Amino acid sequence: MESITERFKNQAISATPVAVRKICCIGAGYVGGPTCAVIALKCPHIQVTIVDLNQSRVDAWNSPDFKLPIYEPGLEDVVRQARGKNLFFSTDVDKGIREADLIFVSVNTPTKKSGVGAGFAADLNYVELATRRIAAVATSSKIVVEKSTVPCRTAESMRTILEANSKNGCRFDILSNPEFLAEGTAIKDLFSPDRVLIGSLQTPEGISACKSLADVYGNWVPQDRVLTVGLWSSELSKLAANAMLAQRISSINALSAICEATGANIDEVAFAVGKDSRVGPKFLKASVGFGGSCFQKDILNLVYLSESLHLPEVAAYWRQVVEMNEYQKRRFSKRVVDTLFNTITGKRIAVLGFAFKADTGDTRESASISLIRDFQSEKAYVNVYDPQVEHSQIWMDLSEASPSMSLDQIKKQVTICPSAMDACKNAEAVVIATEWKEFNNVDWEAIYAGMNKPAFVFDGRLLVDAEKLRKIGFQVTTIGRGERL
Ligand SMILES: NC(=O)c1ccc[n+]([C@@H]2O[C@H](COP(=O)([O-])OP(=O)(O)OC[C@H]3O[C@@H](n4cnc5c(N)ncnc54)[C@H](O)[C@@H]3O)[C@@H](O)[C@H]2O)c1
Repeated sequence: MESITERFKNQAISATPVAVRKICCIGAGYVGGPTCAVIALKCPHIQVTIVDLNQSRVDAWNSPDFKLPIYEPGLEDVVRQARGKNLFFSTDVDKGIREADLIFVSVNTPTKKSGVGAGFAADLNYVELATRRIAAVATSSKIVVEKSTVPCRTAESMRTILEANSKNGCRFDILSNPEFLAEGTAIKDLFSPDRVLIGSLQTPEGISACKSLADVYGNWVPQDRVLTVGLWSSELSKLAANAMLAQRISSINALSAICEATGANIDEVAFAVGKDSRVGPKFLKASVGFGGSCFQKDILNLVYLSESLHLPEVAAYWRQVVEMNEYQKRRFSKRVVDTLFNTITGKRIAVLGFAFKADTGDTRESASISLIRDFQSEKAYVNVYDPQVEHSQIWMDLSEASPSMSLDQIKKQVTICPSAMDACKNAEAVVIATEWKEFNNVDWEAIYAGMNKPAFVFDGRLLVDAEKLRKIGFQVTTIGRGERL
């Protein structure tokens, strides 16, 4: 793989790279916000404007007390340093586009809910609308960077739209620059990325545009971490990276089911397997299932792509990663019901954590949503607590998960609590759904005292010290652990 320096040494750049002075990012979400805030911080000579149609989101980014719309450790500090200097948030999308030399398209690409490819294909409507807006309002040449995760060859569609609608003298160079940050560690990942991937057409103009973007990252990312590839490889690499990460989780989760049935311990198995340097220790933690906006969506996208390419075996292979994840969530809630003497009707269950993972307020595809829906359908009462997620978000997610129920009906069964302690009061069981560190540090003795007996703990994140809890008196069930042999 060529680094950016090798690429430019090897190929004469006949088009002079544009020195980027103004960047516009369309989409002030989990990716656009942190990514471009970090660019602003690291490149004080570049003006960065992040635009979004969502007024309340932009207002939150601009809030005087820095109550930002997303929670990420370190993000507030970055925004405090750059906002108002060279970092701006605005709903004036057209002005942002007009002024920029380089535009990131960082809009959402959810799974399609209807029409061809529903349930699998990416909904590219937001990407297309943003692209058409660029074509409509740009009065000078732009480098347009596809930051959203998109199916292969989306850049080609963007190019076709831009070229068909451009004004005289405006040229558009399209780059693919997928984002590999992980929520919860986004700022750390952006400060020190494993790699920055830039895909471009292999034409002199494409390579020159690639150099312009590489120079932006060059302000803080070592040159050997900036990888340059063709457009389609770049687009596919993002889907492939997420698919392989999710596949590791589904693999370890599949093994956790065997551990529970045999008495093996999934942590011990993962440790032993991860010691093989070819496998490595990361991403081998069994859990109640992966969540987040990306893994499932991107794999389904890959499934759809494989089917469109008449590769049904490949599609079936990747689909199984998602099916295993669904199985893991179902298996876990069934284990709760089975352990609580085969019925949870009328029982109170405390669910600790609603975010899809720790250190984020993001709830998209969170395992908690499925668990609570399952407990509701078993007619249990659920107390839920999360240190970061907004209450309105919890109600929205639960309503979406149970469309046949009114919010009032849901509220009869579900209570949002102000602390873990409150959530566990008078409960029969505690379910740990998100690996927030604070759940390890709560006063478990006091929690035990306030619960109905026998008091059960179900650890879906391998978070707590099961032996310590057993000594207090809890009946503890841990994912990936059965009777020890
Ligand atoms: N969230 C992650 O961890 C992550 C990581 C890597 C890549 N991605 C990819 O990045 C993309 C963005 O994800 P996200 O999590 O930031 O989504 P998001 O929903 O948080 O943000 C997208 C934003 O784009 C705005 N938007 C949509 N259309 C617009 C338009 N035409 N003009 C202006 N604003 C518009 C929306 O209002 C929204 O605020 C997706 O393709 C996703 O797959 C996400």
